[in-house]
Amino acid sequence: MKILAIETSCDETAISILEATGTKKNPVFRVLGNTVLSQISTHRPFGGVVPNLAMREHQKNLVPILEHTLKEAHMLTRVTKNITVNKKQKASGARLEKTLEKILVREPILLESAQKFFKKYLPPDIDAIAVTYGPGLEPALWVGVNFAKALSTMWGKPIIPTNHLEGHIYASWLSEGKPPEFPLLALIVSGGHTELLLVKNHLRYMRLGETRDDAIGEAFDKVAKMLGLGYPGGPEISKIAEHGKSDAFDFPRPMIHSGDFDFSYSGLKTSVLYTLQDLEPARKTKKRSSVAPIKISTKRKADIAASFQQAAVDVLIKKSAQALKKYKPKSFVVGGGVIANKKLRSSLETLVHKLFPETTLYLAPLWLTGDNAAMIAAAAFFRGIPKKKVSGLSANGGLKLS
Ligand code: KG4
Ligand code: ZN
Repeated sequence: MKILAIETSCDETAISILEATGTKKNPVFRVLGNTVLSQISTHRPFGGVVPNLAMREHQKNLVPILEHTLKEAHMLTRVTKNITVNKKQKASGARLEKTLEKILVREPILLESAQKFFKKYLPPDIDAIAVTYGPGLEPALWVGVNFAKALSTMWGKPIIPTNHLEGHIYASWLSEGKPPEFPLLALIVSGGHTELLLVKNHLRYMRLGETRDDAIGEAFDKVAKMLGLGYPGGPEISKIAEHGKSDAFDFPRPMIHSGDFDFSYSGLKTSVLYTLQDLEPARKTKKRSSVAPIKISTKRKADIAASFQQAAVDVLIKKSAQALKKYKPKSFVVGGGVIANKKLRSSLETLVHKLFPETTLYLAPLWLTGDNAAMIAAAAFFRGIPKKKVSGLSANGGLKLS
């Protein structure tokens, strides 16, 4: 089957077309087309994602990205002119136009480009449309959900509503080689989530623990901001951390000995802030001190970044080790933006290699660590086409895995 997937949960607009053959146990995936457009440059001046800007950018970008992806998959076929249309076809065309206007009434920019698109191109040979409907920024999610509804109506194809976090887990099915096996331990580390889950079979989740405050990616982003680095902060911190000493500062490892599988990253972030204030007392009195330009040396910054990164990674390693020991899973799957971090990748590899050699580790391939639609299509393949037609699908910013 061929799935066209749409992802707009945050600041990446992404569309992918995935071909899946074989069985669910032994699927063979082929990415026919894949486009990710990052909005980083739009949000950078604000130091973080601005939901309304994200919504506008998704509206502007979806149709050009769709064209690009269909072209890459050799599925972009122009309507041939001079087709004779009978009265009945004309009436049904007009009805569809009206429905399209209704679906995209809150996305006027998208409506305009979508109307042109549907006049210009024929429906592609796909079986379903997958779309991320949560979790994420609701205004951003809505654009993707409504676009999926528009495509579904105009092309007559079913929708597979898909959970973004499920996508981060299923990214590992797109790695080369043998697919992960159940039961598996899943760790999701992203800008909005830090979760450990036991997955007994496809789509059967038991949440072992999650963050009680900030997500790990959020902590990276906030610490980067304190250090005067760019947005998003994760890649910036990991870059400068390579030149720093990871034991230069003794930052706390919150909840490392809590005995459960929960996390907390807000105390670690605050500890970095206090350290910076000690190093540069003037920051204490400055308004908006966390965003004021920082005056400490590059070497010190690198030491702080490396020490923070080490503390953040140590907690993940400890909790993962605890869960691997307790549940003895066949596979350990790690996904989400933060798994692009080199230190985290190598620490997880060492942990599994040395202490849990009977478990196979799957780190999302680097092209699938950040948000993308290929992982959404993979997750949708395992969900399958719903038995009943999806009607009234809503975006759900706080959607959980269940
Ligand atoms: O999965 P993702 O792209 O979006 C969400 O679903 O949230 O994750 C984005 C997060 C951001 O917080 C970003 O700073 C972080 O992933 N990130 C990293 C690295 N690359 C991206 N964090 C640490 N090290 C990295 N190399
Ligand atoms: Zn994500």
